[in-house]
Amino acid sequence: MSAAPSLYLETYGCQMNVADSELIAGVLRGRGYRSTGDPQQADVILLNTCAIREHAEDKVANRVRQLISIRRSDKPVRIGLAGCMAQHHRDHLLDTIPGLDFIVGPDGYRRLPDLLEADQPAAAVQLDRGETYQGLSPVRGEGLRAWLTIMRGCDRFCTFCVVPFVRGRERSLPAGVLIEELRDIAAQGYKEVILLGQTVNAYRHDGVDFGELLRMACQVDGIERIRYTSPHPADFTDSTISAMAECAKLAPYIHLPLQSGSDPILEAMLRGHTVADFRALVERLRSAIPGLALSTDIIVGYPGETEEDFEATSSLMEEIGFDHAFMFKYSAREGTRSFKTPETLSEPDKVRRLERLIAEQQARTLRIHQSLIGSVVEVLVEGAARRQEHWLAGKDPQYRTVCFEPAGAEPGDLARVLIEAVTSHTLSGRQIAGV
Ligand code: SAH
Ligand code: SF4
Ligand code: F3S
Repeated sequence: MSAAPSLYLETYGCQMNVADSELIAGVLRGRGYRSTGDPQQADVILLNTCAIREHAEDKVANRVRQLISIRRSDKPVRIGLAGCMAQHHRDHLLDTIPGLDFIVGPDGYRRLPDLLEADQPAAAVQLDRGETYQGLSPVRGEGLRAWLTIMRGCDRFCTFCVVPFVRGRERSLPAGVLIEELRDIAAQGYKEVILLGQTVNAYRHDGVDFGELLRMACQVDGIERIRYTSPHPADFTDSTISAMAECAKLAPYIHLPLQSGSDPILEAMLRGHTVADFRALVERLRSAIPGLALSTDIIVGYPGETEEDFEATSSLMEEIGFDHAFMFKYSAREGTRSFKTPETLSEPDKVRRLERLIAEQQARTLRIHQSLIGSVVEVLVEGAARRQEHWLAGKDPQYRTVCFEPAGAEPGDLARVLIEAVTSHTLSGRQIAGV
């Protein structure tokens, strides 16, 4: 008898892609495939791709060409691209990358078995506004943290963004199905879950909104911490904020993408809110949720961004005092509203603006971390620390990485840790007694 066929899967992009890769592995496991970490052993090689910036696509294009060039010739190996880049370039990928066998977009994963059986280059790149992958069993990763996609797609069409074109229209899963999934996740031993969607707080199904879903999720025994990403600033409701305020399992950390601190740029981007709206939202969130940590996404060099606009972004980031930020240079994406708008900033100027924001944020993060020295944080222990022998590591409620000298704690426990030293990346200290 021949051995089970094997799948080698690499994932790029955001956490929704991580969750989709777990679905893909589930679809193929249903056909007898096992996962392998070695592309040279695999019968199927699949890269789950991202299209958000040009750089993300270039990286995958190089990687897939490399994998094709080292493909074994002693057995049939099928190599494919899945996800957002496959969808974005569906019309020419199979022609421009010789040796590529198949492409499959974010709504095509149920068709993977057919694609693998085809004896010619094949594609499944239809978007399907009804596809939520309900009924599929994902193969979840190791560890304490599980991902659960609660809605797919995006209807916002921010001018710079390719997501609505590659992921299609917004759709949510039924709350009952999601709660069942959460029970299953808890039964598998996960302690933390991250609810996912491109505009996750726009969740709505059969009259259940996001706030209500959060409250229902908090009732599931066994799950200690619940997080979600990414909410859209314009989709926050009182229902969500009061759930955050009242339910202890909802971790006090929100990733709240700002993009720019200048009204003309926010308006040009069609973000759907002003600087004043964002400030007011942060105030509402902070007054309702004690200890709230905030992170954000920022784009520098959007077409038309002046020095003044940029300074406004820099000073708003300082004023809000984000705990953490992901900062990017604008990248024109084919098909989006801003694709044809001429860029107004040279590459060196983009780099200069980006580097300044990164340096400012690093100093800010360090300052915030320093203010935590001497305090006690509750860490969900994940496993061995990377640097110090015999130390453990995990996350605090605000999603900060904490390394500590244990005094009895084991992975899966909640440990109280006294913070004694910090960097801009990590807090460290020692476990103290008590709960
Ligand atoms: N749905 C989320 C964002 C998802 S994309 C939201 O709206 O909040 C993640 C981040 O990538 C965005 O927040 C944005 O900062 C960045 N991004 C998206 N398109 C980009 C582009 N064309 N160039 C540079 N950065 C981009
Ligand atoms: Fe993109 Fe805007 Fe949708 Fe976020 S809300 S995924 S930035 S279009
Ligand atoms: Fe990238 Fe697609 Fe996520 S474009 S950021 S992988 S939704």
